[in-house]
Amino acid sequence: MGPGILTGFQKTWQVRTERPVSYDIVCRHDLFHPDNDALLVTQDNRGGSRRFVVVDSQILVHYGAAIENYFKANNIDACLHSFDAGESNKSVEQYLAVLEGLDAFPINRRNEPIIAIGGGVVTDLVGFVASSWRRGVPHINVPTTLMGYVDAAIGVKTGINFKHHKNRLGSFSAPERVLLDHTFFQTLPHRHLLNGVGEILKLAIVKEPELFSTLERHGNDCINAQFQDSTSWEILSVSVESMLAELIPNLFETELARVVDFGHTFSTALEMQDDLDLLHGEAVVIDMLLSCIIAWQRSLLSRPDLDRIFSLVLSLKLRLSSQGLHPDLLMQSLIERQHHRNGVQRVPLPMGIGSYCFVANIGLNDVTQAVIFFKEWLQDNYHEDGS
Ligand SMILES: NC(=O)c1ccc[n+]([C@@H]2O[C@H](COP(=O)([O-])OP(=O)(O)OC[C@H]3O[C@@H](n4cnc5c(N)ncnc54)[C@H](O)[C@@H]3O)[C@@H](O)[C@H]2O)c1
Repeated sequence: MGPGILTGFQKTWQVRTERPVSYDIVCRHDLFHPDNDALLVTQDNRGGSRRFVVVDSQILVHYGAAIENYFKANNIDACLHSFDAGESNKSVEQYLAVLEGLDAFPINRRNEPIIAIGGGVVTDLVGFVASSWRRGVPHINVPTTLMGYVDAAIGVKTGINFKHHKNRLGSFSAPERVLLDHTFFQTLPHRHLLNGVGEILKLAIVKEPELFSTLERHGNDCINAQFQDSTSWEILSVSVESMLAELIPNLFETELARVVDFGHTFSTALEMQDDLDLLHGEAVVIDMLLSCIIAWQRSLLSRPDLDRIFSLVLSLKLRLSSQGLHPDLLMQSLIERQHHRNGVQRVPLPMGIGSYCFVANIGLNDVTQAVIFFKEWLQDNYHEDGS
């Protein structure tokens, strides 16, 4: 140490601790039947008598009376706070509005969990509310969309959009419980059902070859059955299990190379372009197809596998569009994701159906060629009416 630098009065205290994460994801039906206590169970089984319940406005339309009756029958003083979902409402304004509601309806810090009933927008936003209210209070997720069921509501990521950046504000905050009930899909609009299929397809392409084959054989029937039949149940179970197998060992994203990011590199910018009107899962499907083309161009994916993936997307009648596919915009998205992944692209690409690798050197030329291929393919094969 050179002269003049203070050598005394130096000391380091070490703080090292670990916090266990523990929650259950439970499949239950008839959640609003007065005798069903699934919604009221708390971790210590000593729940208080009040609940702040944030409900998607569409869920309120379809199930509002049943929800109110449920809490009344169980002598719970429940405050139902509702808002319209959709990406534009995953906003600071809605976040503050929920906080205002919470401020006007005091709940106990530990034994009166906030309950979120809705799609990914509601569970993401409520999770963030719960993690910031009093520095963290428990919350329960009840996903009502396919997207929420297989993805958004079962992990620990919460968030809202900020300044047109997706999920720019958020936290890692585990729910106390997740209640899965696929009967909610009976009222889910068709477009939103397909939106969730996009995330299932993601796992099928890079991780689950059997799931991919099942989708080829039965995907359409399941969609027509609103995912209420036994094959759909199998698909849902495999999807949740497959997703959890990726999430659980890496809950806090210590490892930034994540296969579940397949389809989540170029999609972020597409999804945030209001004029494109793309849902999250729709943008993910387009991103996956572009990624598959890049993988094929690099000889990572065979032409028959590429064709199989494109055929499945067509046969499931997933919504596609070439609008907004400007290579510059896609590159901006890639650069933004690169910051998110700590300076390295770490883009998952398929190497055949059921396997993947990560690449770190995608450039403008790759993206431009992929867009040209995709647009030509769309022109030759895709009709917006699904024919
Ligand atoms: N946290 C995560 O790890 C994670 C993972 C995947 C997606 N997400 C987020 O999820 C969001 C998308 O979620 P989403 O697709 O569920 O969208 P959403 O929450 O906007 O819901 C879609 C639409 O369906 C309606 N709805 C919901 N349930 C219904 C039902 N049962 N019957 C009738 N209508 C119903 C809603 O009102 C809305 O209009 C995105 O913001 C995405 O970033 C988060």
